[in-house]
Amino acid sequence: MKDRLIVALDTDDGEEIDWLFGTLMDNVRWFKMGFQAFSTLGMEAFPWFKQNGHKVFVDLKFHDIPNTVARDVGMMTKHGANMINMHASGGLEMMQAARDSADDAAYEADIPRPTLLGVTVLTSMDETNFQQNFGSERELTKQVVYLAQLAQEAGLDGVVASPLEIEPLRKACGDNFLIVTPGIRPKWAESNDQRRITTPAEAINKGADYIVVGRPIIEADDPLEAAEMILDEMREG
Ligand code: C5P
Repeated sequence: MKDRLIVALDTDDGEEIDWLFGTLMDNVRWFKMGFQAFSTLGMEAFPWFKQNGHKVFVDLKFHDIPNTVARDVGMMTKHGANMINMHASGGLEMMQAARDSADDAAYEADIPRPTLLGVTVLTSMDETNFQQNFGSERELTKQVVYLAQLAQEAGLDGVVASPLEIEPLRKACGDNFLIVTPGIRPKWAESNDQRRITTPAEAINKGADYIVVGRPIIEADDPLEAAEMILDEMREG
């Protein structure tokens, strides 16, 4: 389970990142850098995380014209990102360009290509605000599946989605398509702004390949104890 938990380092405080990493490094293999951590640590983060065999998920959710996203993804690949995401709503061409660029950059650097993920519909949205925000008549789950199929067609390895959508995603995209799920809340944690949530055990039970957890761990009084409790719950699942 240690290989399937990704801890979101959602802070721009370098000392806090340092402390969290030191505290969790023996129990957690994957760390996620969003904009806050990335703008604090920069490219030096890659060798820093990797020195002890840790893996880095660059969660910058790229969404731009194909040429720009291809360059962004190529740059992150060259520096050693293990997982990179982009908004699937950026479209087929954008995702294909990203895949080609990651292939080329990994080949040139002689390193494995990072896992590429499409973000479907953010887990902070429920049915009502999805329809309001996008003016869409389509059900949220249908939109998630539609975007996942587009990501698969473009050559991405998987998607970021809510654990609540795993079943339809598996049906549409098969067992080898990765499903990475944020929106994870153990019973003892607050839901914060996340809406489409499940517990760690439920997410694993439903078939999530990786779960992403931020605040329930990094804002806990004892982050190591919180991570261990979550890993235990994952094992139960
Ligand atoms: O603190 P929490 O556990 O809600 O953190 C979830 C993390 O996953 C955050 O870093 C958030 O940006 C990220 N994420 C998400 N929903 C997505 C994609 C990424 O919550 N669809």
